[in-house]
Amino acid sequence: MIPQSFIQDLLARVDIVDVVGKYVQLKKGGANYMGLCPFHNEKSPSFTVSPTKQFYHCFGCGAHGSSIGFLMEYSGLSYVDAIRDLAQNNGMIVPEEDRLLPAQRAEVQAKSLALSDVMTRASDYYKQQLRGAPQAIAYLKKRGLTGEIAARFGLGFAPDAWDGLRSVFLDYAAPSLVEAGLVIDKTDDDGAHRKRYDRFRDRVMFPIRNTKGQVIAFGGRIMEQGEPKYLNSPETPLFQKGLELYGLFEARQAIREAGYVLVTEGYMDVVALAQMGFPQSVATLGTACTSTHVQKLLRQTDHVVFSFDGDAAGRRAARRALDACLPHINDDKVIKFLFLPAEHDPDSFIREFGADAFDQEVRDAMPLSQFLVREVVGDNDLNSAEGRAKTQFDAKPLLQLMPASGLRLQIVRHLAQLTQTTPAEIETLFDLVQPVARHKLAPPKSRRNAPVGLERQIMRILVAHPSLSAMLDGEVLAAAAVLAPDGAAMLAQLVEFAQEMGESAQFAALADRLRQSGSDFDALIAEVAEQTESELDVVRLELAGAIRQVRLQVLRSELDALVVGGLRDPLAVARYREILQLQEGLRKQAELEAAQR
Ligand code: CTP
Ligand code: MN
Repeated sequence: MIPQSFIQDLLARVDIVDVVGKYVQLKKGGANYMGLCPFHNEKSPSFTVSPTKQFYHCFGCGAHGSSIGFLMEYSGLSYVDAIRDLAQNNGMIVPEEDRLLPAQRAEVQAKSLALSDVMTRASDYYKQQLRGAPQAIAYLKKRGLTGEIAARFGLGFAPDAWDGLRSVFLDYAAPSLVEAGLVIDKTDDDGAHRKRYDRFRDRVMFPIRNTKGQVIAFGGRIMEQGEPKYLNSPETPLFQKGLELYGLFEARQAIREAGYVLVTEGYMDVVALAQMGFPQSVATLGTACTSTHVQKLLRQTDHVVFSFDGDAAGRRAARRALDACLPHINDDKVIKFLFLPAEHDPDSFIREFGADAFDQEVRDAMPLSQFLVREVVGDNDLNSAEGRAKTQFDAKPLLQLMPASGLRLQIVRHLAQLTQTTPAEIETLFDLVQPVARHKLAPPKSRRNAPVGLERQIMRILVAHPSLSAMLDGEVLAAAAVLAPDGAAMLAQLVEFAQEMGESAQFAALADRLRQSGSDFDALIAEVAEQTESELDVVRLELAGAIRQVRLQVLRSELDALVVGGLRDPLAVARYREILQLQEGLRKQAELEAAQR
């Protein structure tokens, strides 16, 4: 965990106008800055950046967040990576969660900087070598690629030499070359004599970039027949195969414009698709699609189309992707599966049948729900009790992976129909969390618990001005809980977070914290992002008033209860008098404050 205090310091130091301004052209308009929203297509600006709130908000699509949130949305970085990135650009060092000493930390950072420098230089070298390699150029031409596309993906060529990189690195014996996976150290049988040579030789080189655009690995393709067809960088401190998506950096803008991302299996597919008018393509690197891949993709877009070969291997890969997607299912996300004819990958398909045919395939892709049902039904005979039970058996682990959602309910319904049961029976049989069908008459959870009235007013003020949370003590929280039991937990959590952040607490940092905690404050955050700002003193009075109202209302109901009880015992009478006094005190205070305004 990165300490909350560091995140607060960081957000206090960076200016969101600079952060966003790097990517979006902003113009000053009143107190805020305006620009074209990078998260949806628009012609007139409805995207605002508030320097006082240190928050952005789009009136068009509702996107909003802090500097950290912006980097996550825009660059597809994880929360921690976004913080690292901001910190690095502002000369701050993130206190790491692990127990590294500062000196060790500096060493780790220096090392990854050195590796990334090594990779950049190697990539430049391979690119430059391609220019002087007619056979490699001919190969790429034969595969239908133009120089422009080759340049966009930074394609290169590793010459047929054992130590080509010697001309790039003064010190060919440097340990960083082997750490970067560019060379291989061969040890003789006696273990004494070492010989070093280039990993990539006589291959067309595909640099793999991270979402920041830095080269972190390479894939090298052999030009003739031969094994292995592709040679990849090993896992290094910069590169973990199961986490990266080839082409994501190059595709980001196109994904936004197309409104979806196309996920393929190969380097060539990505490059060829970009050439043929589908620059919104990425590839897993010869590995099964992981949950991290899906998470990365869904940070960029809410519409993902996976493409697989139509053969058995493709089907198996699709099934892995399905499993990886299920935990991330959400009703505003669309995930589809495209099955190409056997023997075809996207590259070969689009070359043979053209872009229009491929586009049609994308549009006809199978929705996830349909694929899931097809998978679980499989060869089971739905006309027999055993077949129907087996179908349910096969469906259970998949549905258990899905969060409660409208889509899960749809699938449950469909399965119920196919297996001659009811949706509620399926949910019970499968032990689904938060069954939807069983409670389908109740309004959705978030709305049911949504605080109303006074409590909501208090929460809105606290989200906007967390430093005022000191005004709420246990007694007020208890009173609020009596008044609106549904929202009590939310209010208590908000107050706890805000109080922990102390006097310097700011809206943007709190909003990030609430979002990270996974609690449902998004509507409130959006409201605060939209509202115009008031003076802190005015807000303080507003909050004092709201707190007083809470107290008064609770006293009022206690008083009513005493009266209804008949005021027979002396204790009740004493409490009755006490409440009258308390009410009087609160009203006086209100008059005093009114006079201050
Ligand atoms: N792959 C790999 N190592 C191999 C073969 C494949 O890492 N020996 C990975 C590569 O990322 C490759 C992907 O798996 O892009 C898909 O493999 P394949 O379908 O065989 O290659 P294509 O991408 O279709 O490449 P080409 O069209 O050049 O044959
Ligand atoms: Mn291919």
